Amino acid sequence: MAKPSLLAFFSLLVASTLAADPDMLQDICVADLDSAVRVNGFACRPAAEATEADFFFRGLAKPGATNTTMGSLVTAANVEKIPGLNTLGVSMSRVDYAPGGLNPPHTHPRATEIVFVLDGTLDVGFITTANKLITKTIAKGDVFVFPRGLVHFQKNNGDVPAAALAAFNSQFPGTQSIAATLFAATPPVPDLVLSKAFQIGTRDVKKIKSRLAPKK
Ligand code: GLV
Ligand code: MN
Repeated sequence: MAKPSLLAFFSLLVASTLAADPDMLQDICVADLDSAVRVNGFACRPAAEATEADFFFRGLAKPGATNTTMGSLVTAANVEKIPGLNTLGVSMSRVDYAPGGLNPPHTHPRATEIVFVLDGTLDVGFITTANKLITKTIAKGDVFVFPRGLVHFQKNNGDVPAAALAAFNSQFPGTQSIAATLFAATPPVPDLVLSKAFQIGTRDVKKIKSRLAPKK
């Protein structure tokens, strides 16, 4: 048999270091969300104390309220809601969209996302690091994938509500919403940084900041 090439060896090494969440080392590790112990993930509660409640969540059963600024609502079913997901490397969310609603451009630093349309139609897209937009209109029953770390969005251009289920290969994918990250950070990103980056005046920067400021 031919010896594995150096290239194959390094591809394997890269693939293993680029994997999503690390593998589990025991059957279950129900998250102790209140533990002061800091590890990569959450410390385990004693396995003997685990119950079905640690692996159950009903929060995706009903549509979320979409009377938000963007006309959409993401309801997460991650390790914070389902402690039994700790170390398992998967999670879900449900997204509801009012007619015209937008789940604004965002990224998940720790997960690829795959969505399944429950109802309605969505214009979805992601942008590669070569700045190519991959976009499609998807309808009830369709599936679409957003690769890990890439900026993506969904917009309901229909005149009826839409909903989608999303699955992630991380117990806690993390979400960075592009506009809020840049214009509503604490402490704020300096106006001059945003003014130069977006090639707009600082007055426009302040206007966007005030619009995106978290509602008190
Ligand atoms: C949709 O993109 C989601 O992150 O739930
Ligand atoms: Mn997403």
